[in-house]
Amino acid sequence: MPGPDGPGTVGAVTDLRLARREVRVRAPGKVNLSLRVGPLDPDGYHRLGTVFQAVSVYEEVAARTADTIRVTMVGPTADRVPVDEHNLALRAARLLAEHTGVGDGVHLRVAKTIPVAGGMAGGSADAAAALLACDAFWGTGLPREELVELAAVLGADVPFLLMGQTAVGTGRGDTLTPALSRGEYHWAFGIREDGLPTPAVFAEFDQLRPDPQVPDLDSEVALLQALRAGDPVAVGRLLHNDLQEAAVELCPDLVETLAVAEDAGALGVVVSGSGPTVAALGRSRQHALALAAAMTAAGVVDSVLTASGPVHGARVLPGSDAL
Ligand code: C5P
Repeated sequence: MPGPDGPGTVGAVTDLRLARREVRVRAPGKVNLSLRVGPLDPDGYHRLGTVFQAVSVYEEVAARTADTIRVTMVGPTADRVPVDEHNLALRAARLLAEHTGVGDGVHLRVAKTIPVAGGMAGGSADAAAALLACDAFWGTGLPREELVELAAVLGADVPFLLMGQTAVGTGRGDTLTPALSRGEYHWAFGIREDGLPTPAVFAEFDQLRPDPQVPDLDSEVALLQALRAGDPVAVGRLLHNDLQEAAVELCPDLVETLAVAEDAGALGVVVSGSGPTVAALGRSRQHALALAAAMTAAGVVDSVLTASGPVHGARVLPGSDAL
């Protein structure tokens, strides 16, 4: 049917709508409830045994029409993330284009909330969100398993951020088995502006523990039982991170942050991933706020966030113009 201005308007309106199309995707951050690090393999990665929980701190990626593949970072920490070929959202888009043979461009606008170089997988969340956003924007419709394979090429944590919830990770941390978890866990995160580069923390670990054991999933049985039972007190007691000692070595002030959160009555306190973010588990949402306030008041962190988990993995947001 012709539009109000005569024949051809409908086509023009459709073209305009296509040109202004937008797909928005949100991907969560993570905390490792347990992280056990084994030997360094010849590929430069350590063998891990880990239990991931996705938490409600999100990166949002919007995909829009563009002639080339490009990225813009927004948010208070945006200037600390490169937009060159090291940018993980950009790499995700290029990898998907190469894999599917799509020749189109895309403009990815990444709104950052997860701390940069904080051990909560912010860059990996950008990669997971960008993969899903471009897949929906270009209409490539890859099966989930294929997206997960591409995710693993981009980084060890990226597959988990596509999946979300709670999972056991082995291999580099990218071979995942979903784990049952009951209830909601309330966290306070103590953040430092000076992040820790993940490779440096693993290198420090190698210095401190030259001959680590291959991680054994038997070590996670008690934690997985506590998660199944929905027992935050037991989960708090079982939080564990083999990289914590290395992170503390590189950032000795973490000792005080950990102590402040413990003294404030956290059910458990642990360095998140490769740090330096400190994750403190509260008894309730209210208690997590109190833990965050205690870290702020003691002046042992630059900022705080509260969040809960487990939450879903990367998802296309309602209202998106997916193909
Ligand atoms: O996979 P991703 O790029 O996130 O990893 C960043 C770095 O962390 C790797 O280059 C490696 O130095 C270290 N790493 C590791 N063993 C793992 C995961 C990461 O040594 N299983």
